[in-house]
This record gives sequence, structure tokens and C-alpha cells, in this order.
Amino acid sequence: MNSKSVEIYVFSGSGNTFLLAEAAAGVFNANGREAVLRPLPGEIFPARPDCALGLSFPVACFATYPFVIKFLQSLPPGGGREAFYLGSMAAFSFSTEEAIRRLLVAKNYKPVGCCIPKMPSNYGKHLSPASPANQNIIKTGTGEAAAFASRLLDGKTGWDKKTAPWSGFFYRVAQGQWPWRLFRWFFPLQINKAQCVQCGFCRKICPAGAIETKAGALSINSNCVGCQHCAAFCPQAAIGIGGQSGSYYRAAEYSRITGGLRRQ
Ligand SMILES: Cc1cc2nc3c(=O)[nH]c(=O)nc-3n(C[C@H](O)[C@H](O)[C@H](O)COP(=O)(O)O)c2cc1C
Ligand code: SF4
Ligand code: SF4
Repeated sequence: MNSKSVEIYVFSGSGNTFLLAEAAAGVFNANGREAVLRPLPGEIFPARPDCALGLSFPVACFATYPFVIKFLQSLPPGGGREAFYLGSMAAFSFSTEEAIRRLLVAKNYKPVGCCIPKMPSNYGKHLSPASPANQNIIKTGTGEAAAFASRLLDGKTGWDKKTAPWSGFFYRVAQGQWPWRLFRWFFPLQINKAQCVQCGFCRKICPAGAIETKAGALSINSNCVGCQHCAAFCPQAAIGIGGQSGSYYRAAEYSRITGGLRRQ
């Protein structure tokens, strides 16, 4: 990678992807390339041609969240800037990365590398952030992200050129309603009213505008795409599947994530 600086746009529901982006940024900074993490969704900052574009967000429903796809579609023309994708997933990407590569090429970015480490699953019942198994997966994943950043600097990365037949299919499907409807049906996130103190934090941080006040109490509506952000960071641990309260999976505390993302 020849770029002198790096700007990485990050969305992270429960902190997994943030930790990967943070690990990569650490390597860039240690090697004299200023790296900045930006919140996604959010403002797209004008960038110099010698500033590489980094994209970091999870694979979700074999593609990614509709608000992330909207963000990607709104990226300005790249003018030949270098770009990479550092994502996270629990098992299979189903070629999300190929759909992203095509979008970058169409917008005149130069795709220079892609890496999607496996991180702990962030949905389902009985999730433990602190389990030794999860800590091991996080350690391996962040190590992979750091190694990817080093290889980027050495010009030793490529984008997986393999084009799977389904590439683009899930990506297109993810822009519709039904995968998210299905996800909500299997994993219905709800607010436990007895535990909620109506602080409004979940509504403030929801990237999909899916939390509303109904009959004097907060509730999750059908705009929800299950990103787990509210459940991971509710200070009362009042959000869970079927309203089951209790601590939910998160890879890092909210203060670390929000402190690491630069908004100006
Ligand atoms: C709605 C949803 C859909 C997901 N779909 C996939 C998937 O298709 N493939 C996969 O490997 N992991 C999937 N995962 C797991 C996440 O990609 C994984 O846990 C990721 O590291 C979460 O990152 P985050 O903490 O930055 O949000 C999904 C998670 C959620 C919440
Ligand atoms: S963040 Fe938690 S406690 Fe606060 S309003 Fe949302 S559900 Fe209630
Ligand atoms: S309601 Fe919660 S899980 Fe659903 S989109 Fe908003 S933050 Fe994500």
C-alpha cells in the first residue's frame, strides 16, 4: 500500500469489528501512516488521493446490513485511491467481499486487500463475552487483522479474485426486507420493560432508527436489522431475545469504541 495515511470507516454492532480495525490502525500508526477510525453510518469526510480508504463492518445475513450498503453506495468517486475491506464474521462470508470489490472498482477505487477474520458469534441466547473460548477467538482474530495491516504495508495482499456463483446474490437480497424479517422472527430482540429505566441510550445509538416510544415505553420496531448494538450496550442489560434480560455479548466496552472513533 503506497498511501501515506488511512481512514477506516467502521460499523461494529457488538465490538468485534471495532477491535479488528483498532488492531490494524495500531500497525499503520506504528509504521508512520496516520490511521483514523471513522463512525459508520456517519459523515463521509473528503479525503486526499494519498489517503487509503478502509472499510470495516461485519458480515450479516451472508451480506451486510442495509444501512452499511447504503453507506457504500453513497461513497464519492475514488479517483484511484487505494481501498481495503477488513470485516468480521462468525463463519461464512458468502462472497460479500466480492460484491464490495466490484462496488469499489465501479467507483474508481483501487482494491488492495481484503481480510475477514472469524470472531465470536454475537447473537443467540447464552452468549458470554468473557468465556475463554471467545477470548481465544478474539485474540486470533485481532492477530490476523494486525498481520493483514502489515501485509498491506508490504504490498503483499490481494483481493480474493475467486468469483463465487452466488457472489452479489446475497448482497442484493440483503437490501430487501425478508432476510431481516426472518432474522427478527428467529431472534426477536425485545426490551424487558421491568428492567428498562427509559434512559434512551438504545434509541440514540441504533443505526437503523428502530427504537421508538410506544404507549409510554420504548420498543423495537420492524426497522430492526438485528445488529445487536442496543443489546450489547444497554447499561441495564435490559435487551435480549424474547425480552430475556441479562448481560449480552460484547467484545469491548462502549467507551472504548466511541473513544476510538473520530467524528471531526
Ligand atoms: C444479524 C446478524 C447476521 C449475521 N450473519 C452472519 C453471516 O451470514 N455469516 C457469518 O459468518 N456471521 C454472521 N453473523 C455474525 C457476525 O458477523 C459476527 O459475530 C461479527 O463478528 C459481529 O461483529 P460486530 O461485533 O462488529 O458487530 C451475523 C450477526 C448478526 C447480528
Ligand atoms: S438503553 Fe436499556 S435501559 Fe436505556 S432505554 Fe434502552 S433498554 Fe431501556
Ligand atoms: S434495534 Fe438494536 S439490534 Fe435492532 S437495528 Fe437498532 S440497535 Fe440494531
